[in-house]
Amino acid sequence: MTDAPDLYNSIDRYIDELFAVEDEHLKAALKACRSAGLPEIQVSPGQGKLIYLLAKIVGARRILELGTLGGYSTIWLARALPADGRLVTLESETKHAEVARANLTRAGLIDRVQIVIGPALQTLPQVVDGAEPFDLVFIDADKVNYPSYFAYIMRCVRPGALILADNVIRKGKVLAPRDNDPSSGATRAFNAMIAADQRLEAIILQQVGVKGHDGLAIARVK
Ligand code: SAH
Ligand code: DHB
Ligand code: MG
Repeated sequence: MTDAPDLYNSIDRYIDELFAVEDEHLKAALKACRSAGLPEIQVSPGQGKLIYLLAKIVGARRILELGTLGGYSTIWLARALPADGRLVTLESETKHAEVARANLTRAGLIDRVQIVIGPALQTLPQVVDGAEPFDLVFIDADKVNYPSYFAYIMRCVRPGALILADNVIRKGKVLAPRDNDPSSGATRAFNAMIAADQRLEAIILQQVGVKGHDGLAIARVK
């Protein structure tokens, strides 16, 4: 990414080469995303490894993801599940979901993944109501709806669960969101919500490197 100093990018690549080496399925997934013309906004390898590790640390058996894109982050997360684990991922774009389905099939993970097509606010009720609680939720869909997603997600997480949210710093735009940038305003509101919520203990991890300057919110349900 051009806005991060070269050293940050070099260090990010150094870390990825040590700790987040992509195997053939992750590489093939990225290639398929590119061929299909999907935006290249998936998590970096190191960010994928981080959410994978967090899922393992929390012993996640049930994961909910908002924003599938081509399934790159989905592969990282699904690999953290035990064989009988389950991941539900929500995606509004049929084309993205189709690319993701092919990628997850090739990676041998489709048996434990359910892709639900439609705007997440519309599909969340059917996914969440009456379902077993989730152990980890990764929010990475449209940023304007982060506050609404958060309110909904609090209904379907167990004590000890992790709620992760990508892109909560946005190159620092959260410090002073402009009126013409509703995403940054909503992200700022989301950050304030999780900071103030007495049901959570949370932090934001500032991230720099190959995805520019951004942040990952990490919240644990008490
Ligand atoms: N998690 C992915 C990247 C997701 S990019 C990865 O790291 O590999 C954000 C995705 O959210 C896009 O595919 C976009 O189509 C989807 N999206 C946007 N608005 C949405 C909505 N209202 N409901 C569900 N998905 C949405
Ligand atoms: C965008 C979305 C993302 O989830 C991300 O990680 C980076 C960029 C975007 O919509 O531009
Ligand atoms: Mg993201």
